[in-house]
Amino acid sequence: MPGHKFNPAHLQRLDNPRRRALLPPEKILRDVEAAKASVWADIGCGAGYFTIPLAKAVEKVIALDISLEMLQELKKRLAEQQIHNVEAVQSDESKIKLADSSVNGVILALVAHELHEPQKFLQEITRILNPGGKVIIVEWEKKVTEMGPPLDHRLEASEVDAWALHAGLGKGRVWQWSDTFIGLEYIKGIDTNQSN
Ligand SMILES: C[S@@+](CC[C@H](N)C(=O)[O-])C[C@H]1O[C@@H](n2cnc3c(N)ncnc32)[C@H](O)[C@@H]1O
Repeated sequence: MPGHKFNPAHLQRLDNPRRRALLPPEKILRDVEAAKASVWADIGCGAGYFTIPLAKAVEKVIALDISLEMLQELKKRLAEQQIHNVEAVQSDESKIKLADSSVNGVILALVAHELHEPQKFLQEITRILNPGGKVIIVEWEKKVTEMGPPLDHRLEASEVDAWALHAGLGKGRVWQWSDTFIGLEYIKGIDTNQSN
């Protein structure tokens, strides 16, 4: 039953020592190799768990979320840490308010399983990426783990692959960040048939 939205009242679940141990944001961003001279969109940014370290690694981050409450919390944290290269944008469910070919990278962390129209959303991501740009999808493993949503809210990696390939993206690397989280990379402009 994907599509269930995270409740902003549970904000503390998104940033605590256990989550940082299982899903270390700085290590993940090193693994995905976000270039310094690049612009990234963090879609479904929440309170900025990835936005803030990403802003320290790249030129500019556009942080999008459908939740105003989350964006307010993000803005508070950005001000506290005096981070000035992040633009916060309220987003629509299935429409990304960014121009065609406007970003080098997209991170979609623990959001894909909440999307109402994942296929359409992946097409939107393809639209906003520059040729050669990449999207990193971080998701829960489809198994029972110590934290996270029920099994029937989680996605099979093969489902995400199918949406991405149908949206015209090519398959890149796969990471296993602890037994709880996986990372899937897709690239705009590589031949999807070469990836398997
Ligand atoms: C589980 S939280 C993850 C937040 C953050 N990425 C992190 O890892 O801490 C999911 C976030 O995605 C947002 N979200 C859900 N559907 C969305 C959509 N269609 N477009 C943008 N944001 C969305 C929710 O409001 C929530 O802030």
